[in-house]
Amino acid sequence: MAHVSDLIATDIDRYLAQHQHKGLLRFITCGSVDDGKSTLIGRLLYDAKMLFEDQLTALAADSKKVGTQGGELDFALLVDGLSAEREQGITIDVAYRFFSTDRRKFIVADTPGHEQYTRNMVTGASTADLAVILVDARKGVLTQTRRHSYLVSLLGIRHVVLAVNKMDLVGYDREIFATIVAEYADFARQVGLSDFVAIPVSGLKGDNILDRSPAMPWYAGPTLMGHLETVPIDDALPEQPFRLPVQWVNRPNLDFRGFAGTIASGTISAGERLRVLPSGRESRVARIVTADGDLPRAVAGQSVTLTLEDEIDVSRGDVLASAAAPPAVADQFETTIVWMADEPLLPGRPYWLKLGTRQVSATITEPKYKVNVNTLEHLAAKKLGLNEIGVCNVSLDHPVAFEHYAANRDLGGFILVDRLTNATVGAGMIHFALRRSQNIHWQALDVTKASRAALKGQQPCVLWFTGLSGAGKSTIANLVDKQLLALGRHTYLLDGDNVRHGLNRDLGFTDEDRVENIRRVAEVAKLMVDAGLVVIVSFISPFRAERRMARSLFGAGEFYEVHVDTPLAVAESRDVKGLYAKARRGELRNFTGIDSPYEPPENAEIRIDTTRTAPEDAATLIVDALREAGLLEAPRGP
Ligand code: ADX
Repeated sequence: MAHVSDLIATDIDRYLAQHQHKGLLRFITCGSVDDGKSTLIGRLLYDAKMLFEDQLTALAADSKKVGTQGGELDFALLVDGLSAEREQGITIDVAYRFFSTDRRKFIVADTPGHEQYTRNMVTGASTADLAVILVDARKGVLTQTRRHSYLVSLLGIRHVVLAVNKMDLVGYDREIFATIVAEYADFARQVGLSDFVAIPVSGLKGDNILDRSPAMPWYAGPTLMGHLETVPIDDALPEQPFRLPVQWVNRPNLDFRGFAGTIASGTISAGERLRVLPSGRESRVARIVTADGDLPRAVAGQSVTLTLEDEIDVSRGDVLASAAAPPAVADQFETTIVWMADEPLLPGRPYWLKLGTRQVSATITEPKYKVNVNTLEHLAAKKLGLNEIGVCNVSLDHPVAFEHYAANRDLGGFILVDRLTNATVGAGMIHFALRRSQNIHWQALDVTKASRAALKGQQPCVLWFTGLSGAGKSTIANLVDKQLLALGRHTYLLDGDNVRHGLNRDLGFTDEDRVENIRRVAEVAKLMVDAGLVVIVSFISPFRAERRMARSLFGAGEFYEVHVDTPLAVAESRDVKGLYAKARRGELRNFTGIDSPYEPPENAEIRIDTTRTAPEDAATLIVDALREAGLLEAPRGP
């Protein structure tokens, strides 16, 4: 390294010790290459003396060769290579750079500035303590400045620096700076960023970066580095109530059971009373175990293993919290969601939601609105596309302990994960729990599914028919229904076309409407199974995710997926309802198999090849399969 500290050469132990005890500031720079972002970051690294000699030599040579700075060092070259590559979309990662000064260590997340990189900015900003929002002094507050500020506010970054850059190009004019600051202040107030520090700088010339600029004697505030070094890092977390999301249960032998994780907020001492959430059970801390021995006390940010005085049930994903001030528990929330995947967010589709160390299944309602990130306008929306941000309700299949995002990012922020691909598809922030989830309780009823089934002398189940339009689902389902009736079974056939005349009359054929169509019919089928019926569902149900969701509503052995497998060409040649012809003529949009996808089942219990099996035979085959599975016997027990 160029000349970081003489201590490295003379007293490495002291250098490392110094280093270890320095505080860490994580920050993000928002702006685009045009604003001079790369030059500014390059300048910070240079001024912090974080460049290797060989990097400096290369930089000097490159600056002469391709630089735009007339022989002076062109700091943009340090970082631009990488950002250019990123902004072409070759990689969309966030670049993290580390540097340090005598007073502090820094991690700067450098994210591309364009709107199509909103998700990157969200990723980079989610752990940042501070954001540097860059403005070109010649251009003032732009659309992108507003977008960046909105995201910074949304993500709860408390410290904001407005760096008015390229002051050298406007003659270091005080009025220009003042006008930009006033304009920004107006906007910042609208997005709730009431506190920001404005600094006039030139990344290129180094004005007000490390040293005060002699060219701007009128400016009395801190330099950029001076501010980064001294801004108080969020140390409110230790003051907040104790929360520890349990990462894993450490059980090396029968005598030891410890709950390991990183303390998200607060402090804890041996003997303190804890509540386990969501279960609500309580105990006291017996020991605070670490690799370096037991501690009497631990604080936010530390990774510890707690043992409890009582043998109570605690599992991964639970939250250990101060019994005196526990977080709330709920399973429905209003949230803001930032969508990060090419495939849109589909209301009603189940996703994994990870909050703290907990993973639960979640469905998201239709957005109440989406936000135009440039104008902050609220727009109506049916779904969210890549980089879109919307306010949606989220409903979980299990309750979780949570905090408002503004109070605790660890327990108020979550990510959404696609259940089939395991890709992160969204990030979200909890506003509040919906009151209805706290006021609606499950009512225990005395007459059970088993007793209703016994009365009918049958075992309730679902036969879920899926396949293209015109595949023959309804025909076969109808025959199965007749055969079962003849066998004295109590059945009901839910057919797509029929249910769409009533309950689902409000739904069309967009992806999101089909998701909702299947969600509703799956819930109805569940009620009917609970009523003791053998339920036949005959819907195209084109998406794997929803069929999987439907299956998850039922017990083992209660769900039979029947794939009525007819090649598209065959279904189209039959075209009983004339719909394929209409779709081909362009008179019918989103037609399955034509301009809307069909995802065939991978593991259907029963597959019927309708090119080889006649409908009557198919029906017999299905009824036989039920008989073989023991589903046509009278139930045992009550
Ligand atoms: S699903 O995809 O949402 O499961 P569903 O089974 O309810 O579909 O309804 C399919 C029926 O609606 C088809 O059998 C057909 O008669 C009719 N239909 C009308 N428009 C379309 C369309 N665009 N795509 C598929 N089916 C359509």
